[in-house]
Amino acid sequence: MSMRTTTNQKLLAWVQEVAELTKPDSIEWCDGSDQEFDRLTKLLITNGTLIRLNEQKRPNSFLARSNPSDVARAEDRTFICSEREIDSGPTNNWVDPTEMKSTLTGLFEGSMRGRTMYVIPFSMGPLGSELSQLGVEITDSAYVVVNMKSMTRMGEQALAEIEKEDKFVKALHSVGSPLLNGEVDVPWPCNDTKYIVQFPESREIWSFGSGYGGNSLLGKKCYALRIASAIGRDEGWLAEHMLILKLTSPENTVHHITAAFPSACGKTNLAMLVPTLPNWKVETIGDDIAWMRAGKDGKLRAINPEAGFFGVAPGTSYATNPMAMDALKKNVIFTNVALTDDGDIWWEGMDGEPPRHAIDWLGNDWTPESKTKAAHPNSRFTVAAKQAPCIADTWEDPEGVVIDAILFGGRRATNVPLVFESFNWQHGVFLGATVASETTAAAEGAVGELRRDPFAMLPFCGYNMAHYWNHWLKMPLSGVQLPRIYQVNWFRKGKKGEFLWPGFGDNSRVLAWIIKRLDGSVEADTTPLGRIPKKSDLDLTGLEISDEQFKELFEVDKSSWLVEADLTADYFAQFGKELPTQMETELTELRARLT
Ligand code: OXD
Ligand code: MN
Repeated sequence: MSMRTTTNQKLLAWVQEVAELTKPDSIEWCDGSDQEFDRLTKLLITNGTLIRLNEQKRPNSFLARSNPSDVARAEDRTFICSEREIDSGPTNNWVDPTEMKSTLTGLFEGSMRGRTMYVIPFSMGPLGSELSQLGVEITDSAYVVVNMKSMTRMGEQALAEIEKEDKFVKALHSVGSPLLNGEVDVPWPCNDTKYIVQFPESREIWSFGSGYGGNSLLGKKCYALRIASAIGRDEGWLAEHMLILKLTSPENTVHHITAAFPSACGKTNLAMLVPTLPNWKVETIGDDIAWMRAGKDGKLRAINPEAGFFGVAPGTSYATNPMAMDALKKNVIFTNVALTDDGDIWWEGMDGEPPRHAIDWLGNDWTPESKTKAAHPNSRFTVAAKQAPCIADTWEDPEGVVIDAILFGGRRATNVPLVFESFNWQHGVFLGATVASETTAAAEGAVGELRRDPFAMLPFCGYNMAHYWNHWLKMPLSGVQLPRIYQVNWFRKGKKGEFLWPGFGDNSRVLAWIIKRLDGSVEADTTPLGRIPKKSDLDLTGLEISDEQFKELFEVDKSSWLVEADLTADYFAQFGKELPTQMETELTELRARLT
């Protein structure tokens, strides 16, 4: 056990202050070593939190089952407590920071009694990179410590960086389940009261009551998106809910693409895509978050601030994502998937036949005849990114990689073509601002109910969404060489409700067209929405896409789009006078192009 504390007075004082408030039995400074991981996983096994999987089938891997009430991010319990309410905006929950601090102080009072308090120094981004940011998470959950080991660069070296820089984000977490009078612990301690709170001005995070990854691994959504987006606003860079992929063409030219899709729309699959187009190659830089800013060369450069993948398990298979499957062969922490009789894991959508018997995510017997799912739909794996066979050799480049194109997408059964190119940066920002998924099946010719998720940042923007759009609109003023923006939609349906596009590896065909547009080798057709491929320029070799299907994939139904434009106007209305006028201009111009 590491006895090291720190020479950094600010950190030392904060750790003492938190200990006085939360009253843990002991304090441990995490060094990030394998020994520490082994010791803590053993402890978690003893406590019933983790089950060790079959060493032959899944070496050094574990299964956790959460409390059934603690299976996802708690969006309605997530708060952006800026000094002024207007800086949080209509899409975030807001409470006055002084009031919130007082509520939280009450909750954290004695919340770690009977537990160990772990201090986890971490770096978001490669250690020592100028694009990286430091943090310290204090938590009373050993499950958090062992997951942070694959999700961030944590421990000894991160602490050395903090001592050098004297700057870090304070991230405080408690499961909110003190052990009083020698009470024995439960496998998944948590609290019915939950608060996931960001203070953007003081750059602090306080998270109470949940052990679930998105609420408890504070480097990810809380820091790398909510707090970092506010830092980016102040410092002129972008913290985005985007994957980053490296694309190599048959001619060996390299491009990098980022893409923002709402949660559970296949970001990990695109980041790890195996192209069906011969001799194209996709490699992964990141699957969830991108930090982007102007490099010394004046180009927009991105790093992945994370070190691991916290992916959705169900639906992952050799058919949908072979690279992820290969990454999951060892050293994985699974949460809420099913346990097979031979000590391995299973989830809905995995290759082959379902097991004849398994233990489901709730710990009950399960057979294929059961009416319930074996794995929770939001069950997850945590694994180090370097284990993915498709990880790019440049994924930890401290300078970041040059971004050539940005993609926005949602799950749209109607209206949105397979791909189109924005007319310019401002139009691209409008596309990002209007991203949506369709939640209910659309009646024929009508738009389904739209769940707006601008820039896929709805639950992750650490400040007023309208100010965030304005921040994007101002990017060209900095003189940085900006990528082109595209909208994509893998999910468009035909008249009979069938998917019009095969998706997955065939999405490489869309990426290949984008590269042709970037290098100027093909013209495009102009529609009211943006520029679409000519049929001959989208490589469809080996696919059976009829002319009719192609037309449907790219159809722009003007009356349906005018309805959508009205819905967009309603959506924009909530931002009042904060809405950048450019967004209204774009909407007006879209309507004009449609009529
Ligand atoms: C995630 C999410 O877990 O977006 O990445 O919800
Ligand atoms: Mn995500």
